[in-house]
Amino acid sequence: MKQKFISIQEAMNKKSGIVSVRGWVHRERGSNKFKFVVLRDTSNIIQCIFKRENFNEKQWGEIDSLKIEYSITLTGKISQDKRAPTGFEIDVKEFKVIGKAEDFPINKDLNEELLGDRRHLWLRSQKMIAIMKIRSTVFGAIHEYFRKEKFYEHQSPMLLGAAGESGSEVFEVNYFGKKMYLAQTWQLHAEAMIFALDKIYTIAPSFRAEKSKTSRHLTEYWHAEMEVAWTDFKSLQDYGENLLKNIVKKVLTENKLELKILNRNTKILEATAKKKFPRMTYTDALKILKEKCKMDVAWGKDLRTIEEDNISKLYDTPIIITDYPKKVKAFYMKESSETINKSDDKKTVQGFDMIAPEGYGEIIGASQREENIDVIKENLKREGEDLKKYEFYFDTRRYGSVPHGGFGMGVERVISWICGLDTIKDAIAFPRTMTRTSP
Ligand code: 4AD
Ligand code: MG
Repeated sequence: MKQKFISIQEAMNKKSGIVSVRGWVHRERGSNKFKFVVLRDTSNIIQCIFKRENFNEKQWGEIDSLKIEYSITLTGKISQDKRAPTGFEIDVKEFKVIGKAEDFPINKDLNEELLGDRRHLWLRSQKMIAIMKIRSTVFGAIHEYFRKEKFYEHQSPMLLGAAGESGSEVFEVNYFGKKMYLAQTWQLHAEAMIFALDKIYTIAPSFRAEKSKTSRHLTEYWHAEMEVAWTDFKSLQDYGENLLKNIVKKVLTENKLELKILNRNTKILEATAKKKFPRMTYTDALKILKEKCKMDVAWGKDLRTIEEDNISKLYDTPIIITDYPKKVKAFYMKESSETINKSDDKKTVQGFDMIAPEGYGEIIGASQREENIDVIKENLKREGEDLKKYEFYFDTRRYGSVPHGGFGMGVERVISWICGLDTIKDAIAFPRTMTRTSP
């Protein structure tokens, strides 16, 4: 009879009886009478005991040689056992080795660099499995949120003729002898698409050639972006807040076990799911920094990581900082109406950053978009951009422009915060950074 395999978790849910499971040897130890194997599949781990008396000499030889990462199938009697790592043990009656394993080159003493080189194998660790499951929940929650809000999923090109996000660095591609760029954002094409679809979103890779070796920068990251016609600045903030709440709630309900494996204190996640996020202007943020953090920032300077970290630590939810000085933000951001007649130095824009709690930095960058074509051209000129490359974008303002806006969320930044990771590299299976390009 063909065995019916069930997952380790399903086997434990059964609590008793004969079960067949399959997986990989996670740990093993033995004597000449017993062999203990902790077996892993994606659902959980379970202790399995092989008693010598149940097997012949040839079989015992095979059992004795089981090592970490052998793949095996087995059938046995499951029962509760308080001493076992997950509270259950399988007394093995039959087994089969499916794939042998060489000495597994992962151990506790490896430094980050070596674990990075062996990433394809390190992904099998309990930590990485837990993170990748949470990552899957996060992606699902983003789709769920936008579709519930009646957004269309839409894709923009990754190969672009002009950089989309001024101020951050862009990768050049030799495109049949012509220069093209890897997308830093979908935004400029998305702005063209809202005239057809009204409310759109995507989750796609974005590429940033920033020379930053920090725990928050990837060169290739997954970017959840949205763009909406007929919107105002406050609604954009609501969308951002509700999206993040939806993600956090979903992880809190679906990934309890994973959060526990990661040792994540969930207090701040729970607060984030419930409480309203504080919203403040950049100007107010400077006052708070001065009063509560003893940090003096001259008006007009962008907030640095250290300032974002310090202010975020005053709250137990993400915060939304609005109305930054125009000169530190991108060319497409709409000027705040009350500053329109002021000199460039004093102008602010209807843009916001959402800053994660606990020092995880900017997770959303957003803005209401400038509608005035002349202002956009002035802004681009000031940044030394070639206006000819933006002709298609200007058309979005020439034919029935409407108030609109959108934002981008760094998905790995969100995962990194939700999981409480030391580095963003662990929020993605195969990270790309300035210094990490393989595997
Ligand atoms: O603030 P950014 O540069 O905004 C944009 O690209 C807009 N065009 C988005 C839009 O309005 N559609 O990037 C958006 C977010 C940041 O808030 C951050 O979370 C993330 O992308 N991000 C990165 N994540 C990982 N590694 C990097 N190097 C990142 N750079 C930005
Ligand atoms: Mg930004």
